[in-house]
Amino acid sequence: MNSITIRRPDDWHVHLRDGDVLTGVTPYTARVFGRAIIMPNLVPPVTTAAMAEAYRRRIMAAVPASSGFTPLMTCYLTDATNPADLADGHAAGIFTAAKLYPAGATTNSASGVTAIANIRRVLAVMERIGMPLCVHGEVTDPDIDIFDREAVFIDRVLAPLLRDMPGLRVVLEHATTSQAVQFVDAAGPNIAATITPQHLHLNRNAMLVGGIRPHAYCLPVAKREEHRLALRRAATGGSGRFFLGTDSAPHARHMKESGCGCAGIFNAPHALESYLTVFDQENALEHFERFASLAGPEFYRVPVNEGLVTLVRSDVRIPDVLDAAGTAIVPFHAGETIGWKISSMS
Ligand code: DOR
Ligand code: ZN
Repeated sequence: MNSITIRRPDDWHVHLRDGDVLTGVTPYTARVFGRAIIMPNLVPPVTTAAMAEAYRRRIMAAVPASSGFTPLMTCYLTDATNPADLADGHAAGIFTAAKLYPAGATTNSASGVTAIANIRRVLAVMERIGMPLCVHGEVTDPDIDIFDREAVFIDRVLAPLLRDMPGLRVVLEHATTSQAVQFVDAAGPNIAATITPQHLHLNRNAMLVGGIRPHAYCLPVAKREEHRLALRRAATGGSGRFFLGTDSAPHARHMKESGCGCAGIFNAPHALESYLTVFDQENALEHFERFASLAGPEFYRVPVNEGLVTLVRSDVRIPDVLDAAGTAIVPFHAGETIGWKISSMS
């Protein structure tokens, strides 16, 4: 097959930042994706419906008029989140979901949740109203090795939480381990996971062998090869419980090429092509549309997009660096050639 046409996809996990960088990066996402779940880890974080509405407007100002793109906003949960305010924001259509960052787990998570017990009332309300909870699934305990933090989170936090609140609707964001895949496979239809392109392409050797590669560093960090293979089976297997979420997370080049480099991979410019390469390698093109365009809307209970995207086989060289309204950012696959390109959208 040299060409594939799918329903317009959505990105169920993206960081668009703010200010000039927002202006520079948003068109890459809006060009391809019909909707995107917008991460709220700004400084200060998006913790109220008023902040989310103001941020949504700033995003829309950065979206090219003809793109038909809709940002879906999330609420950054803190120990102090008010359950009634959150539910009101959801009922008003401002908050699609809420995001749980364990405090200290990743970029701008210092105001995150310090113990799940502190948001028990919030989660009980979310369970009752069916509001999705997007989870950064890593423990932050300094005694836990960084490569084990997702698996330990599942054991110590997520599994007990779901035993207490079996109806809670949870997306385990950016799954990186076979334990995450097994957990989602064994759970009910209220549990899903997003998978990034980088975790389908890279294992930890790709980040560390032959020199340290800061542009392959994100959180959760890439794991051993066996985990990458489990993620590829999950994404391409057609289950419908794993769907597209890029976790595109732009940082200025100098902030990544640093003695203490930031976590995050800017994959928005060629994310769909990158995913398609994986489905092609796995001989699973027939499951690509489900992963990219159908399973996410099913979980989030929204209609699939009306538009279509066609991709064709063609060698495309990915630029070494891109300019995002004055900020130099190195994209995922920089300097590589990938074998698919978007040929038309309707
Ligand atoms: O690598 C990451 N970057 N992981 C996250 O969880 C946050 C993100 C960011 O905001 O830079
Ligand atoms: Zn993220």
